[in-house]
Amino acid sequence: MTILRSVLALGVVLGCVGAVKREDFKTCAQSGFCARNRAYAELAKETPNWISPFQMNPSSLRLKDGILTGDLIDTQEEKQPSPRPGLAFELHLLDNDAVRVRITEREGVLPRYDGVQDTVLVKPYGMAKDSSYKQLSKDTDGVLSIQYGAQRQNTVKISSAPFKIEFLVNDVTTVVLNGEGLLRFERLRKKQVEEANEEGKLNDQEARKKEGEIKIEKSALELKLEENLWEERFKDSTDSKPRGPESFGLDITFSGINHVYGIPEHATSLSLKATKGPDAPYSEPYRLYNLDVFEYEVDNPMALYGSVPFMLGHSKNSTAAVFWMNAAETWVDVEKTAEDKNSGILSWIKSKKAVPAPSTKTHWMSEAGILDVFVFLGPTQRDIFRQYSSLVGTTALPQAFSIAYHQCRWNYNTQQDVAEVDAGFDEHDIPYDVLWLDIEHTNGKRYFTWDEAKFPNPTDMQQSLANKGRKMVTIIDPHIKKDDQYHVSKEGNDLDLYIKNKDGQSAFDGWCWPGSSQWIDFYNPKARDWWASQFSYDRYKGSTKTLFTWNDMNEPSVFSGPEITIPKDVIHHGNVEHRNVHNLYGTMFHSATAQGLIQRNETNQRPFVLSRAFFAGTQRYGAIWTGDNLANWEHLEIASPMLLTIGLSGIPFSGADVGGFFGNPDAELLVRWYQAGAFYPFFRAHAHLDSKRREPWLFGEPYTSQIREAVRTRYTYLPFWYTLFHETSVDGTPIIRPMFTEFPEDETVFAMDDQYMVGDALLVKPVTKPGITRSSVYFAGNEKWFDIKDYSVEQGPGIKEVASPSDKIAVYQRAGTIVPKRERPRRSSKAMEHDPFTLVIALDNRGEASGRIYLDDGESFHYEQGDYILHEFRVSQGVLSSHDLRTESKVKVSEYVQRIGALRIERLVFLGSKIALTKVNVGDRSLQVDCTHAPNGGGHVCTVKEPQVAIGESFSLSFE
Ligand code: NOJ
Repeated sequence: MTILRSVLALGVVLGCVGAVKREDFKTCAQSGFCARNRAYAELAKETPNWISPFQMNPSSLRLKDGILTGDLIDTQEEKQPSPRPGLAFELHLLDNDAVRVRITEREGVLPRYDGVQDTVLVKPYGMAKDSSYKQLSKDTDGVLSIQYGAQRQNTVKISSAPFKIEFLVNDVTTVVLNGEGLLRFERLRKKQVEEANEEGKLNDQEARKKEGEIKIEKSALELKLEENLWEERFKDSTDSKPRGPESFGLDITFSGINHVYGIPEHATSLSLKATKGPDAPYSEPYRLYNLDVFEYEVDNPMALYGSVPFMLGHSKNSTAAVFWMNAAETWVDVEKTAEDKNSGILSWIKSKKAVPAPSTKTHWMSEAGILDVFVFLGPTQRDIFRQYSSLVGTTALPQAFSIAYHQCRWNYNTQQDVAEVDAGFDEHDIPYDVLWLDIEHTNGKRYFTWDEAKFPNPTDMQQSLANKGRKMVTIIDPHIKKDDQYHVSKEGNDLDLYIKNKDGQSAFDGWCWPGSSQWIDFYNPKARDWWASQFSYDRYKGSTKTLFTWNDMNEPSVFSGPEITIPKDVIHHGNVEHRNVHNLYGTMFHSATAQGLIQRNETNQRPFVLSRAFFAGTQRYGAIWTGDNLANWEHLEIASPMLLTIGLSGIPFSGADVGGFFGNPDAELLVRWYQAGAFYPFFRAHAHLDSKRREPWLFGEPYTSQIREAVRTRYTYLPFWYTLFHETSVDGTPIIRPMFTEFPEDETVFAMDDQYMVGDALLVKPVTKPGITRSSVYFAGNEKWFDIKDYSVEQGPGIKEVASPSDKIAVYQRAGTIVPKRERPRRSSKAMEHDPFTLVIALDNRGEASGRIYLDDGESFHYEQGDYILHEFRVSQGVLSSHDLRTESKVKVSEYVQRIGALRIERLVFLGSKIALTKVNVGDRSLQVDCTHAPNGGGHVCTVKEPQVAIGESFSLSFE
């Protein structure tokens, strides 16, 4: 084992760029429950006229206060000599129009874990009011229907025999549960009883077989259903599975919907590829199991660092989503199909086509817990984002600095090194906000400590960055070096805060960066509070108000563990087996850290914590990134679909390591990555310990200037980005958006993931291949698009070849939008705080446009008391108006609002005007306007300098 550890650690440290070690990670066939549930699906397929053995007992159904309950019977089990009680079924109608379906054991041998909801759901949700739904009488086949939704546009139909749930929107079937009959539910059982029964059965069967009474041949698939029920081996590890098998599976069909998205994290396309069916590109299901995958491969459904079991389906006619609330290992098969036996009939009739609407069948398989799934029917994507985020929470409004540019590498080695890198940015006039320190800054990977020889005076170091408005981030991982002399380790032991071995007594011990380590049990509320207290300034010596945190390795990564993570049978607080909560561990850690950063200040400062592992709800605690990518073009290319997927699954604050973590990018790749990264919500360059230094100026000209231009572009758009962060913090709308989110009816864009939108206004197409100087961009809609650099115009819809020379990528502002900017180059975002604004007004064909600005102090929680500015700009009929959007009850005219609201708008740029503007007036003041022509003959570009209006002022300005 020691050798194995050393080899592993060495492999990681050397960072030799090779291929993923697939053999370190399970395939579905090597994961007992996945193999069993997949075998069941095969059995269903091979069995003519397969029907689900599950039946709802119709007389057991009761609907009260928005909750329908009933008894679900497994007719196969019923045939056993001593059948167990049926499964408990619940369907909740929520006040946000979502529906929740829960299935679990009634009177199980042991309780099944049902605690995910306690940490994932933000609050007990409201149930639909009695008046907002209507139960229709059961039809002759025992189908019970309930109409619900704001306009009663939705119907949920529960069929009894076989059991099936259909969700219809305006009478069109949209989502079907168990339509394929793959519902399967492994009952908890007692091992000894089972073994004795098994023995008894065999003896009995042997005897009867000898007497020629029965045939006991089982098909290979039926036998597979009984494999690996108890102990399970993988490579040199054994999962003891003391509770035995407890998995379940269910098929979910998106009827009439050919594209499904979500279920991050996988290095794959935005529109999920099929894993089953005749031409399926993948043969493995998508796996959701937080893992530290060394040198991950692109175009692969293997599990990565984070998991969000949220899937969205979209077609021209409908949008629907499901959230499978389970934090155990989960696999999802996806199959595209032309025919839909769940009656896409109505949708075909509607679309008046003779062919059946295509559908997507998905099959969800989880190892433990209870079946708990939410169904969202929109009707629009925005509704779904709102419905989903009202359950799992929206993105916490970040510190303003954290959406600017971050400079990181493993490692900045000394205080001197930090000072030089910091000075390098100033010398080369490149703005940046945060300098990061990786694990080598600590005393022997003891987090919350410093290597005093290399960083003798961390407080001064942070102060000198802070003097320029800059911040620092240090890494704090969840593994704690075993060392009684290390205060964190000792306290963790004294207070009994570590994860326990399967005996539930001794602390689990594994191998990570510091060598032999233990892992804090973040499921223990006491451990979370204690952890949070470690961030107080008196405990974390050398930390200051401008020091923030990076949580890494929190899947958790355990070099000596099965699949480089912690064994599933270790025990958490409350005797909870890790198996049940694996995918949530990183989030619990992330939340405790964020809590610590909030608590350390009396003055109400927002935290900033970056995490590698994530789950549904992570957005409430901070940002995430896509882990250890490679410095190659494929990884640059895959970053866009990965970030789009993570964003639409509720975690918009995410980024990929700019430059690529492993290996050495050449100058061209590095520049292209900066140009793309400037349009990631989280924008950080990072590099492996053994990679060559690559600070932005090290490749010389023209590269330094190209990188400067990319980073400065990000800074000019910070007011726009911050406004988008505010928007998502309110309603969960993603910040970077797939084209299909903004153009939901344009089928051309449903699978498009090499270009995307930032908010509703900017179209971005990164260059992801070497040697490119032109890009083909799809301009959607019957609208104009304006190049953000030279204002040249393209007319949609259609694909156009546009210039992408080495100093820019294609970024266009959509007609009909108004984007707030700050255009003065500064050292850091803090240094821009008092700068004036520019509004870029891109008029549409009707001469209209709209946009917003949100501003607050960028660091405190005072905005919760109404201490912010939210203005809407609108152009209509030759008038640009700005008005306050704050609601009456929240309006507060604080000193801050007055000061910031008084900052002036220094420039208005009108694009897309059919005529050159000649007269611009605010009240009776007339303003000077200068017009030029856009380079490719696309109309007028008219600039009004110093319109003498303030950003927080309601005004109206006329132009002609
Ligand atoms: C793994 C992280 O993914 C990487 O970003 C970091 O540099 C190393 N751990 C060392 O802390």
